[in-house]
Amino acid sequence: MRNDYNNRLRAISKHFLVGSGLSNVAPLQRAAGTQLVYSILESGNDWTEQLKFWGLSTPVAMMSGAPVENFVRDFGKQWIDDYWLSQELWAEMLDPTNQVNVFPALRWVPSVFAKWKRRAPVARKYLTEAYKGLMNQSIKSLERHGGSFNSLSIIPKLLRESPSLANAHEDMEMTTFMGGIFDAAVGSSVMSFQTLILALAAHPEAQRRAQAEIDDGFGRDNPLPEHMDTGKLRYVNACVLEAQRWRPLGAFAVGPFGLPRKSVVDEEVLGYHIPKGSSILINQWTIAHDPDFYEEPTCYNPDRFFRDPVGAKKGVKQEGRKALYTFGAGRRECAGKDFALQNIRIALSLILWAFDIVPDGPLDVDAQKGFTPAIAMIPIPFKVKFVPRKGKKALLEEKRRADIMFSEMLGKEA
Ligand code: HEM
Repeated sequence: MRNDYNNRLRAISKHFLVGSGLSNVAPLQRAAGTQLVYSILESGNDWTEQLKFWGLSTPVAMMSGAPVENFVRDFGKQWIDDYWLSQELWAEMLDPTNQVNVFPALRWVPSVFAKWKRRAPVARKYLTEAYKGLMNQSIKSLERHGGSFNSLSIIPKLLRESPSLANAHEDMEMTTFMGGIFDAAVGSSVMSFQTLILALAAHPEAQRRAQAEIDDGFGRDNPLPEHMDTGKLRYVNACVLEAQRWRPLGAFAVGPFGLPRKSVVDEEVLGYHIPKGSSILINQWTIAHDPDFYEEPTCYNPDRFFRDPVGAKKGVKQEGRKALYTFGAGRRECAGKDFALQNIRIALSLILWAFDIVPDGPLDVDAQKGFTPAIAMIPIPFKVKFVPRKGKKALLEEKRRADIMFSEMLGKEA
């Protein structure tokens, strides 16, 4: 059953996560980014809360066919808060400093002495509720559009092909599987974006250079062009890639590695024997900070990716090298890598078009002190101001166009 869903999801995901599917989803990402810009303006710099909405926006629409507003309408704003609480609880369970993750024998400790055992069912409850909400909206989307639904949404497509649609929300395997993909998309993008904002707030010279490129690309006058090709913004793209290299999300502060994979057969790699059942980890931090490969690897310097596709210093052999290892490598590399990078690049372009990001207090960019010692490398909360470069009227007009684009795309029928 799981393989069945897995194969179908992979096939359908091709329409959204790679190639021309990525171009199809770009207008939705642009609309979400524009809404983010306006909400930052309106909320008076309460940007981390607005980022949570942005993080949900495109994955929610892409997966369920409904905008986040529908979730808020049906389940209240609480759905958003509960979703993020579920992520915090889940991260707490996976926290590598949690002793049971280091000494598995501790799992036999009775729950009265083991806080994590009492927290796990709470995490499960919140996650399950969030996933059910996703499934519920997907069923509604399908019903709203009748059998002819063929819009930008993965779950309604799967449900349409499912003979047992009536019971879809009871199908916990499908619900959890979809929820897992959803989680992979949301938190990682928001956390990476926080690091990017920190990097740019600490490097105003990089901001100025990115803004010059954006102003040239989008035109200095309002409104924004109909077709906004952020793929051509090479320096903006370099800012995004460099933030991923500089502070890789998976290289949590207490250890340099990403998530483990398990080998399923005995294997020989470059003369090393890897027995079946070994845990395999990518040493993300060391790869990303290798002084033999990068010039001054500890510095945030987008120029390295502007000059070279993999950011290498001059004269270094690059054969088989990837630009980033933050997304893993090999067959199980992140399925949403290009989607995520495009989403972040679009939102950053819009933010830098609209604002200067200015520190509003001290910024700690130190990899140990400035970031959380948790499952992912996330900046400790910091304060920045978003100083507008455009008038409120221009931003409101863009927001209005974004709202229309959103509803047109989600309402589109075959
Ligand atoms: C900056 C944002 C993101 C980061 C840093 C990230 C990172 C990762 C990493 C490290 C893995 C594990 C790879 C491995 O084990 O080798 C992974 C897996 C995965 N990611 Fe992402 N991800 C991001 C965004 C996304 C998005 C936006 C989506 C979907 C739209 C997504 C979907 C997935 C899926 C489906 C997998 C499992 C792939 C498999 O098992 O075959 N991710 N991601």
